Amino acid sequence: SQKASINIVNDPEAPLISKHIYGHFAEHLGRCIYGGFYVGENSEVPNTQGVRNDIIKALKEIKIPNLRWPGGCFADTYHWKDGIGSKENRPAIVNRWWGGVTEDNSFGTHDFLNLCEVLGAEPYLAANVGSGTVQEFNEWVQYVNHQGKSPMSDLRKENGRLQPWNVKFWGVGNEMWGCGGHMTPEYYANIYKQYATFMTDWSNSDKLFRIASGANVADYHWTEVLMRDIPKNLIEGVALHSYSFVEWSNKGSATDFNEAQYFSTMQTALKMEELVTKHSEIMDKYDPQNKIALIVDEWGGWYNVEEGTNPGFLYQQNTMRDAMIAGVTLNIFNNHSRRVKMANLAQTVNVLQAVILTEDEKMLRTPTYHVMKMYTVHHDARLLPVEIKSPEYVYDNEKLPAISVSASKDKEGAVHISLVNIDAEKSNTITVNLDNIPVKKAEGSILKSPNLQDHNTFDNPDKIMPVKFKDFKLKKEYVEVTLPPFSVVVLELK
Ligand code: AHR
Repeated sequence: SQKASINIVNDPEAPLISKHIYGHFAEHLGRCIYGGFYVGENSEVPNTQGVRNDIIKALKEIKIPNLRWPGGCFADTYHWKDGIGSKENRPAIVNRWWGGVTEDNSFGTHDFLNLCEVLGAEPYLAANVGSGTVQEFNEWVQYVNHQGKSPMSDLRKENGRLQPWNVKFWGVGNEMWGCGGHMTPEYYANIYKQYATFMTDWSNSDKLFRIASGANVADYHWTEVLMRDIPKNLIEGVALHSYSFVEWSNKGSATDFNEAQYFSTMQTALKMEELVTKHSEIMDKYDPQNKIALIVDEWGGWYNVEEGTNPGFLYQQNTMRDAMIAGVTLNIFNNHSRRVKMANLAQTVNVLQAVILTEDEKMLRTPTYHVMKMYTVHHDARLLPVEIKSPEYVYDNEKLPAISVSASKDKEGAVHISLVNIDAEKSNTITVNLDNIPVKKAEGSILKSPNLQDHNTFDNPDKIMPVKFKDFKLKKEYVEVTLPPFSVVVLELK
């Protein structure tokens, strides 16, 4: 076993880790909404207003803090008025980006916002800028948020909902550099200002939180222009998208991969550290008071679709490799929680790095789901910054840090440390120095499996589950932990 050492810094001034870092994303894409979340009220699968009860239960167990909808690229084709009123009268539309399938709009604004209420999650609406209008956008805000008498609140009431939903988080378009309209950042900054100017909270809710469509991966110029050109009173967040993959043009199988492919995937996943560091530095330059948040509203692993499935549906399995991506990425976000206030894993059900997969009446929780669940202890806890000397994970003369870590202290004073060892072969022993935090007892859980390619299946849905972890020694000043290869551990110290 190789050795590593970590110093925890007990800094009372450190930021809170926003629970919204643990957010999710549900697009009208493949079987995420239709045939995933939404089976319809007449389905034999037990449901609440058409949404599967097993999914609702599973998402409550990971304390889903927010849900982004309806896209993605789909958002800039979506006209929200198509999805309200009686379901028989809603027009069918063709999903231009994802498989060209026709959908009947039976899952619309009321369906989504009511689902968020059932989940106890904040809705994050991504609104149409690419093919919409300022008026259409502004009317959506009025429809969902206005309490008093107005054309749109009257329409909402006619459609059976008296109280507004008070939606706070709004995305002003999606990927405006690509599927949102192939714009330059200068052009989009102007469009953004126009839309943001006419957005109002209709004076009945918290102030709106307006999120500008952000950079693609390392497009720092994009962030620079938005931060430079958009006045501070018009913007609360700037987004960023970054996916993990072997090679964009040759993504490989989600389950049948070798160590070289695993290593490349982890290289792109760990790149997130550099991305949030550099985008944050640009934001610091224009916003030294840290008023505007960095919102990583799309992240996760992206592979080829499962054999025999529609290539436009992005349905993929989820292995221990994905648990590694989730573990290291969430640690990066925690450690950057001064600027990173929200993130959304793509996507919740049956699409990309899903936490849940369904097949007819069956459902399974993926390894990624279990990492999300283990990390719930960090939601809204105070960050404990960490200094780390990590051993290297070496593959074919290339190196990555083998160990990733973040730590926090919750309101009751319990300390939680999440550790990931991405090494495919070697275990690592880590001394975690506790900076005089008094600790009497420790316990832990671990997610591991014999093979990196292991995954949960509909016949064996609980093959990979967290179990009790005992491979640590608690001393007065430190705790010594041994992590097996490709494992995630969360320790609780009290
Ligand atoms: O998550 C799938 C797609 O990836 C989204 O629709 C888009 O925003 C991104 O390119």
